Amino acid sequence: MCILPHYSNIINDIYYLRVSDSLLLNIDRVNLESYDKLAFEYDSLSHVTTRLLEIASKDGFDQFLNIYRNNLTDTVLEVGTGTGFLTSELVKVFNVTSIDISNKMLLIADSKINSSTIRPNKVIFKNISILSPPINFLCNKFNLITCGLADPYFIRKSILNIFKLLSDDGILFFTLPEVKWAKKERILRLKVPFHTTRFKLENGESINPFSFVYTEDEIYKLLNECNFRLLHVFTILANYHDLLKSKTLFKNIPKIICVIAQKK
Ligand SMILES: C[S@@+](CC[C@H](N)C(=O)[O-])C[C@H]1O[C@@H](n2cnc3c(N)ncnc32)[C@H](O)[C@@H]1O
Repeated sequence: MCILPHYSNIINDIYYLRVSDSLLLNIDRVNLESYDKLAFEYDSLSHVTTRLLEIASKDGFDQFLNIYRNNLTDTVLEVGTGTGFLTSELVKVFNVTSIDISNKMLLIADSKINSSTIRPNKVIFKNISILSPPINFLCNKFNLITCGLADPYFIRKSILNIFKLLSDDGILFFTLPEVKWAKKERILRLKVPFHTTRFKLENGESINPFSFVYTEDEIYKLLNECNFRLLHVFTILANYHDLLKSKTLFKNIPKIICVIAQKK
């Protein structure tokens, strides 16, 4: 895998993340390869950390919806569909357009949502990267943009594209792994560079997609640079007892940060 140059010197320097086009392509290439390989086992309980982050992310989304439901209309964009964990919540309430760089992830999300017994609202899946969407897609305007576990692609260029796609009174909701939790996880347990993570596949292969995480201060700066203002930031610790139903000890319980923002 090709990582950022002089990695150790620029760890967590959000300004460096104004990366060149070739580096953007590289981020997309690494992530596409990784998530394509991961797709068929992404939902497996063996990826327990992902399950826990997902649970925390959904709790955050529920809290967000409780507060903002009345401000939202029906034009919703979901970025980074994955296998549709958050999509299935979104379609209970809204019509949704959902984009992901990995067609393999989208196919699984599509089959899950369409086999659901609850008749969902309309959902359109599109194989698009938020780092380089086609120009005609950028003509759309959405009233809500959600990015659940947005860490593979959440850099300045994506936020600028999200800005273009959001209506003037629209709301951006995103979740990321919480930075202190991620630091501990990556340095002590996974032993991978800070802005990446690691999945061990069932065939023994390891994959290392990008996973950008930030302090609250950096999130504020990054959004501010892209003409967003923060409305709300909160963190959620994963409720792991629900998932494991056992006394398995989690030394570093997964935690996420939820952010709600609007255009300035
Ligand atoms: C960690 S998963 C999160 C899935 C889902 N949103 C959830 O909350 O469970 C991240 C997803 O983002 C997708 N992704 C990575 N880079 C992307 C990009 N540039 N544009 C759109 N999706 C991207 C990956 O393929 C993957 O499905």
